[in-house]
Amino acid sequence: MKFSDQLFELFESFSMDLDLILGIVSRWLHIGSAIVLLGGSICLKFVVGPVLKDQSQELKEAVRGRWKRFVHAAIGGLLLSGIYNYVKALPLHKGDGLWHAMVDAKIILAAGVFIIAFVLVGRSKGTQKFRDNAAKWTTIAILLGLLIVAMSGIAKVAASRPKAEPATLTPVSPAP
Ligand code: HEM
Repeated sequence: MKFSDQLFELFESFSMDLDLILGIVSRWLHIGSAIVLLGGSICLKFVVGPVLKDQSQELKEAVRGRWKRFVHAAIGGLLLSGIYNYVKALPLHKGDGLWHAMVDAKIILAAGVFIIAFVLVGRSKGTQKFRDNAAKWTTIAILLGLLIVAMSGIAKVAASRPKAEPATLTPVSPAP
């Protein structure tokens, strides 16, 4: 085998491995970030929130300040890995209406979740009215998040299912 062919083969196998590694890392990042954002919001809503209800504003601000770092990191992780997954998945789903319906709609809903989560940990005066109703907006973000996970599951399992082979007719040879 020529040296140039060997070099090409080496490069090809390296880029295949790199693709595989990036695909796995991006999946970890995506699912991990979703767990942090959705799980953290559920914990805040049903565990931390009720306990903090009658506590000082200072304590509430301290919790919000720490949660903010996780929200920013999770949004960054979901955006980075989501865009990578999307670009990689697009050529595999050409003309796949169900996949596009699920994933494209989920991206729009995810933008809504990101805005709500971002605003709830923010400090801007203009968005204070959302923080005054934090319980309501956290519930909306959780419901949207659960819907997004359900839609992602449909995209992953149902829409990516290999289509059934069209039935082929076997010619029957005439009886002797
Ligand atoms: C709140 C935000 C989000 C949540 C909770 C979320 C959740 C998930 C989950 C759980 C999966 C994996 C499905 C599985 O493997 O069973 C997934 C896959 C995926 N997500 Fe997200 N996601 C979010 C935001 C985004 C964003 C912003 C994008 C794109 C910019 C995106 C693009 C994708 C793509 C392309 C897949 C692969 C679908 C497939 O396997 O066919 N996601 N997402």
